[in-house]
Amino acid sequence: MSHLDIEALLDRAEDYVALSRQVEKKAATLRGRTQINLFFEPSTRTQASFELAGKRLGADVMNMSVASSSVKKGETLIDTAATLNAMRPDIIVVRHHAAGAVNLLARKVGCSVVNAGDGAHEHPTQALLDALTIRRNKGRIQGLTVAICGDILHSRVARSNIILLNALGAKVRLIAPTTLLPVGIERMGVEIFTDMNKGLEGADIVMMLRLQLERMHGAFVPSPKEYFRYYGLDHEKLERAQADALVMHPGPMNRGVEISSAVADGAQSLIREQVEMGVAVRMAVLDALAQHLPNA
Ligand code: CP
Repeated sequence: MSHLDIEALLDRAEDYVALSRQVEKKAATLRGRTQINLFFEPSTRTQASFELAGKRLGADVMNMSVASSSVKKGETLIDTAATLNAMRPDIIVVRHHAAGAVNLLARKVGCSVVNAGDGAHEHPTQALLDALTIRRNKGRIQGLTVAICGDILHSRVARSNIILLNALGAKVRLIAPTTLLPVGIERMGVEIFTDMNKGLEGADIVMMLRLQLERMHGAFVPSPKEYFRYYGLDHEKLERAQADALVMHPGPMNRGVEISSAVADGAQSLIREQVEMGVAVRMAVLDALAQHLPNA
């Protein structure tokens, strides 16, 4: 996508912010269409917002509960995809623990597929909602310094944000201990800092990430107390950033591990607004897909 395509999608999302703030929140864009949300990993924000987004656009939305599905009896991803495809959905929204699984599934079905997060690879709609939140609060993204801090190694949010923010002209910094930085990440056009105080210097946006303990599998696991000391965001460290710096976190948060409650709930935090923008951005993405559905 070009930066113009991305800006157009964000503009469309703005329309859906306005619609979602009205008493009557419904549009007819996906009336008669079927959307299946297929989440192989836990989710609060992404699954709920895709469900609300589909419903607000008039689709019939089905949430597949993987925990009580035949996946638990050993059915493969491809057989699950073929089974759902036989029910003739128009859109399948997928989250999976394996990088590349969403792409694989998309090649096995005859409908549109949306990536709701695949392993440590990508989470594109998260990056779009983050961009919308930044643009609404700063008026632009071009030229801003965005510091992404924390467990970069396991973060699909970081990867998608690096790609999108670079495309929109931001300067992206990564702040993490070397053990939580992927080898070769500097090739993605980012500046690397292992000292959080230096990395925060002059930042316009501070984006904190969760320590993804569930993906560490016996590898180096930092103690939460020590991690917070060096890489947790509190007001003292935040003072290194610009005076009007804004704080983001994709959620779920581990309070007292990567961020203090005082910062998470403070005046500079955009964390609740990010959640609201998640519904609007997902409406815009589903709307864009609707233009390409058969018989649209
Ligand atoms: N940000 C995010 O993907 O949150 P969930 O895991 O709750 O969907």
